[in-house]
Amino acid sequence: MTITIPEFGVWYSHLKLTHIALVIASGGLFTLRGALVLAGHGWAMARHWRLLSYGIDTLLLIAGVTLWVQLSLNPMSSTWLGAKLLLLVLYVVLGSLALKRARTPMARLGSYIAALMVYALMGSVAHSHHPLGFLQPWLMHVD
Ligand code: HEM
Repeated sequence: MTITIPEFGVWYSHLKLTHIALVIASGGLFTLRGALVLAGHGWAMARHWRLLSYGIDTLLLIAGVTLWVQLSLNPMSSTWLGAKLLLLVLYVVLGSLALKRARTPMARLGSYIAALMVYALMGSVAHSHHPLGFLQPWLMHVD
């Protein structure tokens, strides 16, 4: 029996597609759970939903780190990757405030909206390979 090992390009593109699918699943689940919590449906924080969310996020991070290792990137010189990792920390903090730690409904709503914006920014940073992502036209305005 011969085992065929897919060439690097094919393997890499499958891994990247998996990463993107997990980005959509993770973002979609956070959007849904956040909206339910804000609407007063506490069951969105039940153990099985939390476990599903941790599972998807773990796979997402593993796929991201594997892409990173495969490309041998250095986040100090590939500034888009450095920016993405910093935004990831901010997203985790905002997400935790939105789902449980913020004290008032207003603070929860603000954290939820900010977390979604940071997530979209992370996606645009990855897609454009630029640390400013979709903010680039505003922050790098040239007359
Ligand atoms: C530890 C966390 C993560 C690491 C190390 C990481 C790393 C990477 C790397 C190295 C790529 C490949 C870029 C290329 O092939 O040119 C990539 C693609 C991508 N990442 Fe991540 N990622 C992480 C988490 C995330 C998160 C949380 C998001 C959510 C928005 C995200 C969104 C994307 C998208 C949308 C792409 C595809 C970009 C494109 O080519 O259009 N990543 N990521």
